[in-house]
Amino acid sequence: MKNNQQIPTTSTHFDPYCPENIPLFEALYGENLISLGGTTAIDHMLSGLDVTGLNALDLGFGLGGVAFYLAKNYSMKITGIEVYTWMVEHAKIHQPKDLTDSLSFDTYLADGTFPFHAQTFDLVYSKGVLNHVANKNALFHQVNHVLKPHGLFVIADWIFPETTTDVSPALVCETKTSYQKVLSDNGFDTITFRDDSQEFLAYAHQILANLTKHQILIEQQYDKSLFSIIWQQHEELIQKINQHQKYAVRIVAKKR
Ligand SMILES: C[S@@+](CC[C@H](N)C(=O)[O-])C[C@H]1O[C@@H](n2cnc3c(N)ncnc32)[C@H](O)[C@@H]1O
Repeated sequence: MKNNQQIPTTSTHFDPYCPENIPLFEALYGENLISLGGTTAIDHMLSGLDVTGLNALDLGFGLGGVAFYLAKNYSMKITGIEVYTWMVEHAKIHQPKDLTDSLSFDTYLADGTFPFHAQTFDLVYSKGVLNHVANKNALFHQVNHVLKPHGLFVIADWIFPETTTDVSPALVCETKTSYQKVLSDNGFDTITFRDDSQEFLAYAHQILANLTKHQILIEQQYDKSLFSIIWQQHEELIQKINQHQKYAVRIVAKKR
């Protein structure tokens, strides 16, 4: 391998979140993004919600692209937090210069506390992150703490059927019931789930197209096997969505 790390395979878990993978992420997902669907999916995550101008927390901002887009197109003031220091550096370097007053990025320890006062944010959102977090209790308690009264927590994530047999090592297999419970236990109500699986099916097909488009770059910069690993992962994803073994959801919960 030219890089030490790969994106997760279905059989063994490697941590993909290293700076060497930035060209790979951007080839697959778009500029400064590490999740499916590009800006269409960002708009869709917030569709129907009145979020223009809000003071928001981006939980797991990755390369910062979601925050950059929302600061520009929704006039939001956004604070991003991540578990990797290099991501903070990346976001600070790549943030649009005319938006620096609206953006700030910081790290926190995954099992530590948020570095914010109570009731700081109108909105907390998290796109494509929470399937990495096994213990959501402590995290959601903190999300609730930093939200203003009746503030919104918006999540784009995957859920599984109640009787799932999925054993993907890289994912935490939440169900609708487990998500409802952990949100409710940590001070949220008015919890709604929207099934976005059809949209994510299209996004997964787009990844296959992006892979083909960037095959040479991927094969030159990374291990030869990576192209087919990613291809297989997304074919499996498409199959699971089609067979209703996995659902993409937008969850909205309100602080009680
Ligand atoms: C698939 S990427 C999504 C990044 C970004 N939200 C986006 O849409 O481009 C998942 C991100 O979750 C971050 N992450 C994993 N566990 C986390 C945690 N406990 N708290 C915050 N971020 C976390 C990873 O560092 C990674 O950047």
